Amino acid sequence: QGAMHPDIEQVLFTEEDIAAMVKRMGAEISRDYQGKDLVLIAVLRGAVVFMGDLMRSIDVPLAIDFMAVSSYGDKAKSSGVVRIVKDLDMDIKGRDVLIVEDILDSGLTLKYLMKNLSSRNPASIEVATFLWKDVEGKQAAINPKYVGTHCPDAFVVGYGLDFAERYRNLPYVGILKPEVYS
Ligand code: PRP
Ligand code: MN
Ligand code: MG
Repeated sequence: QGAMHPDIEQVLFTEEDIAAMVKRMGAEISRDYQGKDLVLIAVLRGAVVFMGDLMRSIDVPLAIDFMAVSSYGDKAKSSGVVRIVKDLDMDIKGRDVLIVEDILDSGLTLKYLMKNLSSRNPASIEVATFLWKDVEGKQAAINPKYVGTHCPDAFVVGYGLDFAERYRNLPYVGILKPEVYS
């Protein structure tokens, strides 16, 4: 493991921690989706790293597609407005959809996606999120079937998660130093 990035205050989950969690999630999904018509839908851009690892830890047939929605922009706080930046290429009607997300924070992104994708009549729809943030205050009522781990209510980056488009390439998840975003 290389040196910690100077903007990182604390590493929460190492590459090894992450690999173990993703492997476990992949096994759960492989078990549950035998004989199904699985489509993984990753939410750009934060979920791309997790998607790449998760799909390789699943050993049942699957298709992948991507949606881009944005609610955060470059701000530290959610604007509360979710918009579709890129829609699916695929028709999901009658298929078993699994939404792949890097983090469930306020839950607004997933609330919007569940509603939007459900209206296209998939056979089933579930959520796999790598991180589930323990937020102070309100979080939309989302019940992800597959969770990597809970994480504290801090500004976390790495493993796909950004601040102002930076830090997505860190191979670990860490807490950003407050002076970087304040
Ligand atoms: C981040 C993150 C999740 C979402 C979670 O995406 O990747 O998609 O916010 O927050 P919420 O539960 O409060 O909605 P962002 O909108 O920053 O776009 P990005 O994936 O391109 O970073
Ligand atoms: Mn995202
Ligand atoms: Mg972001």
